[in-house]
Amino acid sequence: MMGPLVRTPTARAVAFATATATDLVEGLAAAGHVETGAWMNRRFPDGESYCRVEQDVRGRDTVVVARLDRPDDKLFGLLLAADALRDAGAARVLLLAPYLPYLRQDERFHEGEAVSSRTLARLLRQAFDGLATIDPHLHRTPDLAHLFGDWPALTLPAHSVIAPYIAEQWPGAMIVGPDEEAEQWARPVAATLGVDWCTLDKVRRGDRDVAVTGDTADLRGRDVVLIDDIISTGRTLMAAAEHLRALGARVVGCVATHALFAGDAMHTVRQAGVAEVATTTAVRHDASVICTLPLLATGLEQLLETSTPCTTTSS
Ligand code: R5P
Repeated sequence: MMGPLVRTPTARAVAFATATATDLVEGLAAAGHVETGAWMNRRFPDGESYCRVEQDVRGRDTVVVARLDRPDDKLFGLLLAADALRDAGAARVLLLAPYLPYLRQDERFHEGEAVSSRTLARLLRQAFDGLATIDPHLHRTPDLAHLFGDWPALTLPAHSVIAPYIAEQWPGAMIVGPDEEAEQWARPVAATLGVDWCTLDKVRRGDRDVAVTGDTADLRGRDVVLIDDIISTGRTLMAAAEHLRALGARVVGCVATHALFAGDAMHTVRQAGVAEVATTTAVRHDASVICTLPLLATGLEQLLETSTPCTTTSS
């Protein structure tokens, strides 16, 4: 005899994937965290973006899931997406962006420069009702609240997924951050694993001109894992790995949250004698082997608890 029909509870939010984030929405949907939303995003022949929501979202919480590396190709489409969902009657339009771009220019270093972190924050605040992101690059800005004010902007720390990876791949290795800012990445991973950690000193003289110094611990003969939030040109990790090797350490691996990998970055890091480079799935890349789905699921749940509907509409 058949038992009573078990109904799957309706997911709290409908998730819409941008072109490079379908795997993330599929993963969240497979685990029951979201319902997959139907929409059409395409480009006109001249390259302009088009978005059409193809399902009823009236009164529903919606979340746009977007990998925002190479952001200039994606940001306008993202704003259209938010407006389309709001105009279609969504209760809330949230953003799950595992990598939040444009945060490194967080100050006017030279007169006349744009401060890109502020521009990005203003655009996202206007378009969405809240966001969650993984390991945002916060240096001179102490936290996302300094950028977004009382608008919900959640930080999801990746150390909870990075630490188990390091424990499995390189048990007992010392954790080293290439610069002072990297203490925020190195310290929690090392604390979770119960291993030593330190940071080095970095001076950046140009996009591809980086020098790393520092000798805060006896590194001779030690297995070391370098950790950072972003690999862009790879010059930071290259300089750090070369420095560590000169101090007598074995750099058994490099781990970063965001695999931006500009140009020959991977080659650059490998040339410094690093055998393995591992990154998280916050950005899609061959090196992105550390799964972020548990973090994103938690972030979405928290966001649904904390944010309230925005009162502005696009029309
Ligand atoms: C900057 O301070 C970041 O934490 C990274 O160290 C930096 O973005 C890495 O850039 P690159 O790979 O170009 O040296």
